[in-house]
Formats: sequence, structure tokens, C-alpha cells
Amino acid sequence: MDGIPTTSLYPKYYRNFRTTVLSEIFQTLRSRKYYAMCRGGSRNRAIPRSTMSAFEDYDVVSRNYDANRGPIGLETVSAFIQFYTNKPLQELHVFDAGCGTGNYTKALLELGVGQVTMVDASPGMIMKAKEKLNDEFEKGRVKFVENLLPSLPFPDDTFDVVMFNMVLHHLDKHRENNTDEYPNITTAMKEASRVLRKGGVVSITTTLRGQFQKGVWNYQLHEEITLIYAPILQTSDFNKKAFAEAGIDMKQKLSLLDVPLVTNHDFYEGPLHKEWRDSDSYWSYATEAEVDEVKKRIWAMKKAGTLEEWCKEHDKTSTNGAITVIIGTVL
Ligand SMILES: C[S@@+](CC[C@H](N)C(=O)[O-])C[C@H]1O[C@@H](n2cnc3c(N)ncnc32)[C@H](O)[C@@H]1O
Repeated sequence: MDGIPTTSLYPKYYRNFRTTVLSEIFQTLRSRKYYAMCRGGSRNRAIPRSTMSAFEDYDVVSRNYDANRGPIGLETVSAFIQFYTNKPLQELHVFDAGCGTGNYTKALLELGVGQVTMVDASPGMIMKAKEKLNDEFEKGRVKFVENLLPSLPFPDDTFDVVMFNMVLHHLDKHRENNTDEYPNITTAMKEASRVLRKGGVVSITTTLRGQFQKGVWNYQLHEEITLIYAPILQTSDFNKKAFAEAGIDMKQKLSLLDVPLVTNHDFYEGPLHKEWRDSDSYWSYATEAEVDEVKKRIWAMKKAGTLEEWCKEHDKTSTNGAITVIIGTVL
């Protein structure tokens, strides 16, 4: 083990120190984001646009992302894309826009989808996806492309399906225009429409603004962070307008009940842990002082023995849902 102590938090890194840790350090330095190692308060800090979401440093987050995230709503997405393309999964060429570490692509390939082209702006997230999907890459079923959305660097009429999973809210920095307009999302919808074959399907998984504000227990812990973060998330009205402008016919908008955003949804001490917070960009928007306030609140409830009761009482994942799937077809 090279004299390096094992730890339950990062077992993978210690198992493969030379290849994984050293290449991550190199990447971090290369992209000059070492200042962002202390994630937090990104609403007050510039994130380099060339490699990033509008407010989250995914090269840093890639280290912990998979610990608490998976392909949420995949069964619904796969059923709809099969139904609306009216093609066998094996014949589909899917475009995974903002693919992250490749969780949705992996699940779709396991279901039998023929081919997936994956795009992300973060070299760290793509590196994780490559580790995960190397076998499929060798079989020619996946392609990785590093590119900044909203532009989609592909010819017209290339794909059967374009998926945006939990990515659209990263494209526009809302606080800069403070309206319900999201120019980059609007462009992304037009680009999706362009690269899709006629009758092709756009599939979006997202948390809608209303769902977020009323829904998940951990967003109720600090009202100020939640109020500031909320306008990043699109409204239903905006989505309808963006689809219409792009020539996409909205077919389904489904709130998935009892489907949590993070794998360890019921771990009520979660916000105390950096690894847990790293799986949700909400926490990158909070300042360090706000995160400390949240931690103090959790510790106080823990001490009083009321934490679980409070979290259950403030969670509406089973009645409101935390995730919405939106499906459209190109006219
Ligand atoms: C919340 S993660 C979702 C990852 C994956 N779709 C999933 O659901 O597991 C958001 C992803 O979008 C990527 N992303 C954010 N802004 C982007 C942009 N402008 N261009 C390309 N990728 C972007 C991030 O790097 C990150 O991998």
C-alpha cells in the first residue's frame, strides 16, 4: 500500500494511488483551479467558463460524485425514449449531454442501447466516465467528447435521442440577469433539435424550482441558501417556452414520487460531511459560514434527539417528488 493509510472515505484512491491521485492532482493544477479546492460560496466567485458549469467546479466534485449519485429516473427515461422513438433500443444512437461520470450512459448500455456519445466540459468527470466505461469504449459503443454546452459539435440529424440529465441548471448563471430567461438553455434546446433526426426525442431530468423549494428535507435547513439558489432552476413555464422556440413538442412532464436526488437521501447527518455535500451543487452555492450554520443546526437537533423526526417532517419527496422527467419530440 506504499505506506499510505487506508481510509473508508476514499478507498479507491488509496488502492490505486499512482494512477488516480497523481493524475487528479495534475489535472487540478493544469486547469488552475487549486483555489477551488475549498468548495463553497461559488455564488461570490468566478468559475472559469472554459471548463466549468456556471457555478460548480466539477473537476473537484468528480472525486466524490459517485458516492451519492446514480442514474435517477432511468427506468422512466428508457421507457419513454423507446416508446417515442418507436425503435428497438439496440438501434438507438443516444447523445448524453453533460454526461458527468457516465451513470446514465452505463445504465442505458446495460439495457441494450446501441451507441452513446457522451459530452461534458469537465476533464475530471470525463476521466471518471472513461474509467467506468472502458470496456464499452473498446467495443465501440461509446464516444467521449470534451466540449462546453450549449453548443453541440455534431452535424444536423445525427442522433435518435438527446438527454440532459441534471445539467441544464448549470448552463446559465442566473444571478447575473435575475430574470426567468436562460439564454444558454434556450440555445441548448435549439441545438438538440438540430442534431436530432426527425421524430427524435429530447429527454430532460431536472428538479423544477417549485419542487425544490417545497420538497427535499436538506433544502429546508437554511432558508437563505435555498432562496438564493432557487432562481437557478427553471420553471415549468420556461421549459414549455424553450421547447416551443426550438420546435420540440412536449409529450410528457412527470414528477417522480419517492425517487430521491441522492443515493443516501435518508442519511440525515449528510450535510455535516463534505463527501455528501459534494454530490449536490446546492452546497457549492452556500458560503462557508452558511454551511457552518447548517452544521450547527444539525448538531443541535442531533443532541436534542429530534433530527430524524424534523427531516422526515420536512421532506416531500414522496408527495411532491424531487425529480421531474420531461420528454419532447422534434417536429
Ligand atoms: C449534476 S452533474 C450531472 C452529471 C450526469 N448527467 C448525471 O446526471 O449523473 C452536471 C454535469 O454537467 C456538466 N456541465 C455543467 N456545465 C456544463 C457545460 N456548460 N458544458 C458541458 N458540461 C457541463 C458538469 O461538468 C457535470 O458533469
